Amino acid sequence: MKIFIDSADIDEIKEVLGYGILEGVTTNPSLIKKAVEGRKGKKINMESYIKEILVVCKGKPVSLEVIGTDYEEMVSEGKTLFKKFNPVAKNVYVKIPVNPCLEEKCDMNFDGIKAIKTLSKQKIPINCTLIFTPEQAFLAAKAGAKIVSPFIGREDDYIREINRLKFKKEDYFPEEGFRRGKKLLDDNGIVSGVDLIIECIEILRQSRLKTEVLAASIRSKRQFREVSEIGVDIATIPLGIIKTLVDHPKTLEGMKKFTKDVIPEYKKLLNRK
Ligand code: G3P
Repeated sequence: MKIFIDSADIDEIKEVLGYGILEGVTTNPSLIKKAVEGRKGKKINMESYIKEILVVCKGKPVSLEVIGTDYEEMVSEGKTLFKKFNPVAKNVYVKIPVNPCLEEKCDMNFDGIKAIKTLSKQKIPINCTLIFTPEQAFLAAKAGAKIVSPFIGREDDYIREINRLKFKKEDYFPEEGFRRGKKLLDDNGIVSGVDLIIECIEILRQSRLKTEVLAASIRSKRQFREVSEIGVDIATIPLGIIKTLVDHPKTLEGMKKFTKDVIPEYKKLLNRK
């Protein structure tokens, strides 16, 4: 499994690059807004800012999202993003929403799928975003997407919302689903965000589609572990969660004891006073 950072903040990206384990970056319009707001009024040249991200991430895919909401807009913006930014370090993936519809009734809107097909034919690598069903992942993969991105935390949110459960964004939601009495809560057969990943992997595997599954909207290190264990291709996680991955109270306790127990002879061996 590859580890990506879910961030458009150049300082965060550089920090995790420094850890030596980063393999890619995912951005979206909300993450770009957050990164810009985080610079507290400091002027930003968007084009150079994105170019800097691409340069520091040379050799690692960076997803940049379109903002259009119909086929023509998404194709045109996908081409613009790729033409403007891919020459910088040859690592741009264009992010296309699976269904760009902004109204309540969104069936029959195949603009996302059509845009993926058109851009993929032009050899523009696509990361298809906002995936909440295995069917969406399947169609995006058929259309040529290189990556599909199911949002696992938001799937957990949805199962809780439609069942009127109270929760906070960071509350853990069990991989095996949540039982209310005898009833296992679900979204059309999907019982959790992690289950959504399992089903997306399965539907692609059955049709021998090579598209990678990227778990997005991961909210905790436990969910990170769960998606790793089921064999997802990529997990994208925010800096806050990346930092928790090395943490354990017993690691800290052990370090304190080892440090205290060092004898002078051993110190000398390592040229320590
Ligand atoms: O990659 C998608 C991600 O940025 C959304 O995360 O936690 O806001 O659902 P979240």
